[in-house]
Amino acid sequence: MQYDFNEIIARKGTASFKHDLTDKFFQQGDILPMWVADMDFRTPDFILEALQERIQHPVLGYSFHPESQYQSIISWLQRRFQWNVGKEWIGFSPGVVPALNLAVLEFTRPGDKVLIQTPVYFPFYSAVKDHGREMVLNPLTLSDGRYQMDLENFISQIDERTTMLILCSPHNPTGNVWRKDELESLMQICLEKNILVISDEIHADIVYPPHQHIPTASLSPEISANTLTFMSASKTFNIAGLSTSFFIASSEELFKRMEGAIGRLHLSQGNIFGNVAMEAAYTYGALWLDELIAYLAGNVRFAKEFINNCMPGVSLIEPEATFLLWLDFRASGFSDKEVRKLLVEEARVGLSNGILFGPDGEGFQRINIGCPRSVLEKGLAGMSKIFTI
Ligand SMILES: Cc1ncc(COP(=O)(O)O)c(C=O)c1O
Repeated sequence: MQYDFNEIIARKGTASFKHDLTDKFFQQGDILPMWVADMDFRTPDFILEALQERIQHPVLGYSFHPESQYQSIISWLQRRFQWNVGKEWIGFSPGVVPALNLAVLEFTRPGDKVLIQTPVYFPFYSAVKDHGREMVLNPLTLSDGRYQMDLENFISQIDERTTMLILCSPHNPTGNVWRKDELESLMQICLEKNILVISDEIHADIVYPPHQHIPTASLSPEISANTLTFMSASKTFNIAGLSTSFFIASSEELFKRMEGAIGRLHLSQGNIFGNVAMEAAYTYGALWLDELIAYLAGNVRFAKEFINNCMPGVSLIEPEATFLLWLDFRASGFSDKEVRKLLVEEARVGLSNGILFGPDGEGFQRINIGCPRSVLEKGLAGMSKIFTI
């Protein structure tokens, strides 16, 4: 490996949400933070160097998205997903979550129903509820260790007020990479029922072979015309603090409306550093990402073996993507409340409570394994003292 993912980097004292706010969120300052979805790895040098080069220039005035930034995105999507997108399909936003909220505001009306498939990344709930829209839950079903979409239930929930689906692909927190047939069936329903698809693909890059991410909009021109895709280099390259993301819409109408929603708030310029970092990531990041995925796959294997051998009451949902693992504690012999208390007070780890991701997350916890293996080992060792038979 050319890159070192074993390096321990002290993040405390850097105003890190994950490391510096454990007091506030867990009432404990000295627990191992394995919750917020950023990684403890060094942001790759080719990004830091590009930022350093930019800061050599002494003026940080207004900037725009240069042609080279567009081309870096187009080339990345082509190389990683064989997805050809036009420059005129690309717009920018200061994060995927702000874009989700703006899409709900722009494309639905108060009282409209928005479908989400649970358990799911919790800001999906607020993006719907905070704007007076009605949330409709289509719970994923866990069968043979893999979450599946329940399309019959999905269809049965649709009425004339249902106007939008927010899809998480790959799916946080279950780690699903949606397969072609799953996506096609879902999209077919959305086309037939006139449901606009918001496809949050922020986790598209970190996928474990042999799984392959398929951008929803790449399935067909018809599906593309009914889809807004949200992506970012933030998770992949550990630059979430730069608040920079982009969207893709091949439909001119969808593009104009989304661009308008972002532009009216003067949010599409982004910030200089986010733009520079994104371009460097997509220009130079392929090898680093391949090595990251290989390292994370090693972390997944390590966690799986450890949990299977030392924590018989706990099971791991095999991830197909993401550095987030979904752990099932329902057979641990402890209630959800007890598990939460034990993890913090005895195991001394800070995970994300499953219940945050929806009612069907009860009994589950999400652990972030985007860290050096020695840190993962420490976290799991703490947990194994409690969750044994
Ligand atoms: C599915 C999903 N969407 C969006 C985000 C956050 O996006 P942003 O930081 O660009 O708002 C996350 C972060 O964990 C996520 O998991």
